[in-house]
Amino acid sequence: MSTLVARLLNRLQPAFDALEVGADPVLRTSDRADFQVNGAMALGKRLGRNPRDVAQEIVDRLELSDLVSDVEIAGPGFINLMLSNEALVAQLEIMGSDQSLGVPAGPAATVVVDYSAPNVAKEMHVGHLRSTVIGDSLCRLLEFTGSTVIRRNHVGDWGTPFGMLIEHLLDLGEENAVEGLSMGDLNTFYTEARAKFDADDSFKERSRNRVVALQGGDEESLRLWRVLVGESVRYFDAVYRDLGVLLEDYDVVGESHYNPLLDAVVRDLDAEGLIVESGGAACVFPPGFTNREGEPLPLIVRKSDEGYGYAATDLAAIRDRVDTLGADRILYVVGAPQAQHLEMCFAVAAMAGWLGEETEAIHVAFGSVLGSDRKMFKTREGGTVKLKNLLDEGVERARQALIERDADEDLEIIARQLAMGAIKFADLSTDRQRDYVFDWDRMLAFEGATGPYLQYAHARICSIFRRADEGVEAGPIALDEPAERALARHLVALPDAIDATLESYSPSKLCSYLFELAQSFTTFYEHCPVLRAPDDATRASRLSLCELSATTLRVGLDLLGIEAPERM
Ligand code: ARG
Repeated sequence: MSTLVARLLNRLQPAFDALEVGADPVLRTSDRADFQVNGAMALGKRLGRNPRDVAQEIVDRLELSDLVSDVEIAGPGFINLMLSNEALVAQLEIMGSDQSLGVPAGPAATVVVDYSAPNVAKEMHVGHLRSTVIGDSLCRLLEFTGSTVIRRNHVGDWGTPFGMLIEHLLDLGEENAVEGLSMGDLNTFYTEARAKFDADDSFKERSRNRVVALQGGDEESLRLWRVLVGESVRYFDAVYRDLGVLLEDYDVVGESHYNPLLDAVVRDLDAEGLIVESGGAACVFPPGFTNREGEPLPLIVRKSDEGYGYAATDLAAIRDRVDTLGADRILYVVGAPQAQHLEMCFAVAAMAGWLGEETEAIHVAFGSVLGSDRKMFKTREGGTVKLKNLLDEGVERARQALIERDADEDLEIIARQLAMGAIKFADLSTDRQRDYVFDWDRMLAFEGATGPYLQYAHARICSIFRRADEGVEAGPIALDEPAERALARHLVALPDAIDATLESYSPSKLCSYLFELAQSFTTFYEHCPVLRAPDDATRASRLSLCELSATTLRVGLDLLGIEAPERM
């Protein structure tokens, strides 16, 4: 199956190839036409010819009559194309009869997605929310286009803090500690342990001994460590359930999983001659990374105390993901501040031959969530915002908003769907690299580019079908009115929107597409009565457009991880 864009490019390519110097045609959307073909200008320059003449030569060679109703050379040498209504209708029919809505499968690939990754015995913060929401959407999109997706929740479950955490657990008494933790009070637990560690030398001593015992495989220490991990993972799970993301317990493959692989990381890097001793630590200096003074920057693989850190674990994880999981690509949905760490890990893995032509690692970086003061999003007291509380507050606010609108359909269920839709859409719709301000009023508004607006647009289309008389059904599509054609043009662009989204790993592109689709539907609905259409054939055609619009919105929202209730 091919998209309209692919079919057009197939026809354009030979016309471009026929010129003395080769070039690839580039299709862009434009407000003057359905598509603008670029390339003639650059070709004109290279050939030393008037670009409009080059464009004309290309047009003369084109055979597009089954797809295009109008070709025009514009400006300095653009080729403007209008799709024929027949081609649009044919594509809509493909969309309507296909599970994937006419979106072709991409090349088969195994993609490991590293996302969410909160830390044991620490509160999840909004950074983890971003990672979770963006990662979830990318996983859905990749699966939709035929990739095999392996989720990896790289939970921080290992390292020196576990000595003090275990000792604190013992001080509180295991049962008491578990009770506090199971209520999701991770921050208090961590802060208390930290405070004791800083103030009390004997506690510090015990903590250090405990880490050594834990790393040495002491059974009782491991058991206590498992208690901590278990309680935290249970808490993370509750947040995932609330959010409705596709993360399961078996996706949790924490840092500790890579412990047995760490020695080999150093050994193999050393065998490649990459390890440099520096102050007792085993380091690799990947070229191109320097500090402010311009000195080469080391990636510390083993610390001077013989311990392994974050970097060694990430290197071991790369090998595991490539060798054991067979990854063709690894995506790291991790905040922008970790860019240098990840780039250095990728560089070292490439030097060692663990990443190469066949496998690539990509940092899908994201910006910060800010408060209304444009500083890091915090509670009024300056603490970490508890994700669970944040989600609960969203549900409560959504409930109030629904009550104000006199909604009486399953209030509780819809309030939850609305809240999660609002939070996720606000996060996903800003370009992921940018920071955004967390603003309840804006994200829960029923106007503007918001989750609720899109959910409402979908529910409103569903209501048309509920109001239709018995026997009134969708039928063959005719595009007579400009608003019908504009809607159709927008619908068939779904594959291009998904393409652009996955190309940049930026769900904001899909968000924009869906928002514009909803707007395009609204214009259509204002100009083109559906149930009161002038005749049966027109009504049937418009019902088909309604059906496709609803399906596209529902599937599109689902790819963002957002539910689309039928009534609101
Ligand atoms: N646990 C880390 C944090 O909370 C994120 C881990 C990201 N993934 C990775 N492979 N390093 O910041």
